[in-house]
Amino acid sequence: MIHFDVFTLFPDMFRSPLEGSILGRAQGEGRLCVALHDIRDYAPDKHHVTDEPPYGGGGGMVMKAEPIFNAVEAVLAEPPAGGAGFRIGDGAEGLVPVVLLTPQGRLFSQEIAAQMARQRRLALICGRYEGVDERVRQYLATDELSIGDYVLTGGELAAMVVIDAVTRLLPGALGDPTAAARDSHARGLLEGPHYTRPRVFRGWEVPEVLLSGDHAAVARWRREQALRRTLERRPDLLEDAALTAEDRAFLEELCQERGKREDGSVEEHRGREDRSLGESVELEDRPAH
Ligand code: ADE
Repeated sequence: MIHFDVFTLFPDMFRSPLEGSILGRAQGEGRLCVALHDIRDYAPDKHHVTDEPPYGGGGGMVMKAEPIFNAVEAVLAEPPAGGAGFRIGDGAEGLVPVVLLTPQGRLFSQEIAAQMARQRRLALICGRYEGVDERVRQYLATDELSIGDYVLTGGELAAMVVIDAVTRLLPGALGDPTAAARDSHARGLLEGPHYTRPRVFRGWEVPEVLLSGDHAAVARWRREQALRRTLERRPDLLEDAALTAEDRAFLEELCQERGKREDGSVEEHRGREDRSLGESVELEDRPAH
């Protein structure tokens, strides 16, 4: 069981996503608990003010430190239902990581999701407006995570991304126990393509090897597709991937093929996925129907 305490000014944003299939089931089966805490309830003044203009001027509003400290400290002082007491810390036994979602954080990854999935309790603070008072970063958060190099209106969607990615790694969350190990990123590679019925759709056929019943050939094909796709789309991932000698030889072959094409021959691989957004193109290879 993993317990998330989410600190937010907009708890309602979480309700529908948390009811969704895998997250809803994980909660129903007692693997996941998400407690939503409205930071506004912890603002000490009678108007429950949670944000103020920045010192030094400039536009926008900054989330005040006190309501956030009050909320996190009050909530984490209490054990979650049936659990032991916790103190704020780095995730070592009995210490709860307090994670601030912010575009300035370290980049969230499958590896971080896997580390988080080993925790019993995690606190997520969702920032809003122009940011949060720096003292929250310095003296309350033990970690800061960003879900990508773009700026959202607040940390709520980022927190949902984190909860989702962590939950599907919990034992029993996915119907197929081996599925998480096969994910894109799980082994440092992107996943290859998947197909299901029908065998021919609008004239496009499923690769023959998948219908062959030859498990070893299927496994080899999948591995090669994963390597090919990773090389084409995210070659940076190959640097840290666990590769066998056979993988390396295959990649070497692909690079040589590519080298040949770049020398002037046909550019076979330029499928839809190789184009950037906004590039206007005719879809190729579409049979008439
Ligand atoms: N808050 C705003 N943008 C964010 C991002 N990219 N990641 C995490 N939290 C955020």
